Amino acid sequence: MRSLLFVPGDSEKKQSKAALSGADALILDLEDSVSLAHKEGARLLTQDYLGKADRTSGPKLIVRMNALDTPFWRDDLDAIAPAKPDAIMIPKTLSGDCVHKVSKYLDRLEGDCGLERNAIKLCNVATETAASLFTMGTYQGASARLFALTWGAEDLAADLGASSNMDEAGAYTGAYQLARTLSLLAAVAADAMPIDSIYKDFKNMDGLRAEARAALRDGFVGKMAIHPAQVPIINEVFTPTREDVAHAQSIIDAFESAGNPGVIAVDGVMLDQPHLKQAKRLVARAE
Ligand code: COA
Ligand code: MG
Repeated sequence: MRSLLFVPGDSEKKQSKAALSGADALILDLEDSVSLAHKEGARLLTQDYLGKADRTSGPKLIVRMNALDTPFWRDDLDAIAPAKPDAIMIPKTLSGDCVHKVSKYLDRLEGDCGLERNAIKLCNVATETAASLFTMGTYQGASARLFALTWGAEDLAADLGASSNMDEAGAYTGAYQLARTLSLLAAVAADAMPIDSIYKDFKNMDGLRAEARAALRDGFVGKMAIHPAQVPIINEVFTPTREDVAHAQSIIDAFESAGNPGVIAVDGVMLDQPHLKQAKRLVARAE
């Protein structure tokens, strides 16, 4: 999953444009992009959208619920689960317990709706409060539903009382770099896809491309978008090039033709098991 486009749940117009964006997944949002007055309306609109959308060839449909410390989350799940979203995104998780709690709630709803157990997957935004950064190791084993984990810098800045999360040069300052790094580690440790956060300056395509490339370099497999114009750039960055795939395949072939030893030399460079693992992962991602 390379690109995940946020779509405010109360905007029929944006919902109608979103599927044409080319995003691998849409995140139909019931949380921060929806005002308190529109929570109920957004739920109904999103339910309706899920019912009408092309579920075979269209993008995966993820619904971002409201956080567990709000009065909305049960109503969100009660309304949305019967429409069978591909996944629910849980914002502002404090630890693996939050994922476990939603997973248990879905167990019951899936039973009531006649859905297969674990049909609805989960992903979460893991870094939105200061306290959440101290429990990042707890997502491992939290739920078999957990398939992706991402991070956010906007709510964390609000929690910290920071006037900005960036320095004068536009780079994330320490707390947000830490959140980004911990989310990458937490996702991989939990066997979930690490997904990079949004790039909010949606007219700056060079900035987006640079941030997406840095994410790919570090191990993220995709990035969230807030505007349809960001999607093609994210897809391009996270799609392995033909040269990348050919190079990775040549490494796999070199190990095979040498009889799969622990270590080989190619063009004067030592390659051992981590390099083989990376090559196999890249070929798998391309597929
Ligand atoms: N999904 C679908 N369509 C979108 C969209 C999105 N996320 N963002 C913009 N569009 C549509 C607009 O409706 C507009 O349609 P139109 O040409 O028919 O008028 C078109 O794309 C161009 O949009 P633009 O005028 O450039 O932006 P805007 O000022 O309308 O909207 C935002 C800017 C940031 C408000 C909007 O992109 C948005 O709502 N993003 C998602 C925000 C969100 O979900 N935040 C929570 C997670 S951080
Ligand atoms: Mg938020």
